[in-house]
Amino acid sequence: MGHCVFLILAAVFSVAWTQFIPPYTEECREEMYPPKGPTFRGAVGWYTVDLDLPPSKRWTALITDKKNDLVNMIQAIRDLANAFVPSGRLIELVDITLPLMVDTLPNPFSDEIKGIAAASGIPLGEVVLFNIFYEVFTVCTSVVAEDNKGNLIHGRNLDFGLFMGWDVKNKSWIISEKLKPLVVNLDFKRNNQTVFKSTNFAGYVGMLTGIKPHIFTLTMNERFSLDGGYIGILEWILGKRDGMWMSFLTRSVLENATSYEEAKSLLAQTKLLAPAYFILGGNQTGQGCIITRSRLLSIDLLEIDLKLGRWYVLETNYDHWKEPFFLDDRRTPAMRCMNQTTQTNVSLQTMYDVLSTKPVLNKLTTYTTLMQVSEGKLESYIRDCPNPCMPW
Ligand SMILES: *[C@@H]1O[C@H](CO)[C@@H](O)[C@H](O)[C@H]1NC(C)=O
Ligand SMILES: *[C@@H]1O[C@H](CO)[C@@H](O)[C@H](O)[C@H]1NC(C)=O
Ligand SMILES: *[C@@H]1O[C@H](CO)[C@@H](O)[C@H](O)[C@H]1NC(C)=O
Ligand SMILES: *[C@@H]1O[C@H](CO)[C@@H](O)[C@H](O)[C@H]1NC(C)=O
Ligand SMILES: *[C@@H]1O[C@H](CO)[C@@H](O)[C@H](O)[C@H]1NC(C)=O
Ligand SMILES: *[C@@H]1O[C@H](CO)[C@@H](O)[C@H](O)[C@H]1NC(C)=O
Repeated sequence: MGHCVFLILAAVFSVAWTQFIPPYTEECREEMYPPKGPTFRGAVGWYTVDLDLPPSKRWTALITDKKNDLVNMIQAIRDLANAFVPSGRLIELVDITLPLMVDTLPNPFSDEIKGIAAASGIPLGEVVLFNIFYEVFTVCTSVVAEDNKGNLIHGRNLDFGLFMGWDVKNKSWIISEKLKPLVVNLDFKRNNQTVFKSTNFAGYVGMLTGIKPHIFTLTMNERFSLDGGYIGILEWILGKRDGMWMSFLTRSVLENATSYEEAKSLLAQTKLLAPAYFILGGNQTGQGCIITRSRLLSIDLLEIDLKLGRWYVLETNYDHWKEPFFLDDRRTPAMRCMNQTTQTNVSLQTMYDVLSTKPVLNKLTTYTTLMQVSEGKLESYIRDCPNPCMPW
C-alpha cells in the first residue's frame, strides 16, 4: 500500500524537464467575453444530483452519460502507470489494495464512489485512485472581488494534470486533455430545490468549485508543503484517520453550511489530510477571504478590506505573503490585470478576461468558472491554451 503511494510520488518527480518552455506572458486580455475563439473549447453541460437518493444511486444518470469519456480517461491513467512500471504491477496493486480503502472513507463519499464504480464498470480501486489523484495534482487560480456596488464576484481557473504525461506532439498534458470532456456543472438538489451548484469532473465526489446561491461561493487550491498531502494520505492508509480529505470538506461545507461565517469557521478549523487554500466569498460587502491552511489549523486569513483599498483577494498556489516560485508566477500577471481592470469595471466579463490572460491561462487549464452570489449564478467554460503557451 505505502509502496503504491511512493511509486506515484516518484512519478511526480520524473518530469520531462526537456519540455520546459521559457515563461510566456502577454498583455492583459480584453473583450474575451462572451467566450469565443481558440481559448474557448466549449460549453459545459448541466446535470442534477438528487441528494434525496441513496448515495450509491446519486451519480448513476451522470455516469451513464459520461461513461465513455470516463473509461477513456482511466485508460490514460493506466497507460501512464504502465509506462512507469511496465509490468502492469502498479495498476494491479491499485485494483487489489485501493478497494480496501473505500470503506475507510466517510459517508456519503464511500457509497457514492462505489455507486460510480458500479455505474461505469470501472474497477473500484481505479475510481478511488481518480478521487485521490485529484488531491495531489492540481494547481489553480482563484479570485474573489467586490465591485463598487458591493456585488461579490468569484472566478477560478482549474489547472489539473501537472506532470501527468506530456504529449510531445500535441504539446499538451495527456490527462488534462482527457479531463476536459468530463467537466460538468452540477445542480445538487434536496426536496427538488437547489442546495448548491458546482463545476466538477464526472466521477469525482469531492468539490473544488461551488456556490450556495445567495449565501457564499467557494473554491479550493492546492498548497504545496513539505508536510504535504503525501504524508496525510500515507497516514490515512496506515490507519491514522482523524484528518479530513480536503475536497470532502469543501463538499460538506457547500452541502451543509448555511452562512459565510459558518463556512469560514468550518474551513478554518477542521483538521485536514493536507494543507490547502480555501477561497471564500460571502453575500455582503467585505465578505471575501483566503484561508491559508496547514493540516491542523488556519495559519493566515486575508480578507477584502475596502478601507485599505483591497477590493479583491487572489490566490494561486503560494502563500500570499511570500514570493511565488519563480518558474510559476501566475500571481503577478493576474494581479496586474485585476489592478488594470479597476474596481469600477470588475464584473463576470472582465474577470473572464483576467482568467484568459497567459500564463493565468496555461496548458493545464481545463475550465474557467465564474460565479456571482447575488444572482446565484455559476457558469463555466472549457478552455484551451493555443501555442505559444506555458505548460503550467
Ligand atoms: C493530438 O491532437 C489531435 C488533434 O487534436 C488528436 O486527434 C489526437 O488524438 C491528439 N493525440 C493525443 C495523443 O492526444
Ligand atoms: C421540481 O421542480 C421543477 C421546477 O422547479 C418542477 O417543474 C417539478 O414539477 C418539480 N418536481 C417535483 C417532483 O416536485
Ligand atoms: C450533510 O448533512 C447531512 C445531515 O446531517 C448528512 O447526512 C450528510 O452526510 C452531510 N453531507 C456531507 C457531504 O457531509
Ligand atoms: C446572506 O446570507 C445570510 C445567511 O448567512 C442570509 O440570512 C441573508 O438573507 C443573505 N443575504 C442576501 C442579500 O441574500
Ligand atoms: C496591484 O495593486 C495592489 C494594491 O494597490 C498592489 O499592492 C500590488 O502590488 C499591485 N500588483 C501588481 C502586480 O500590479
Ligand atoms: C471601464 O469601462 C469603461 C466602459 O467600458 C471604459 O470606458 C473605461 O476605460 C474602463 N476603465 C478602465 C480603467 O479600464
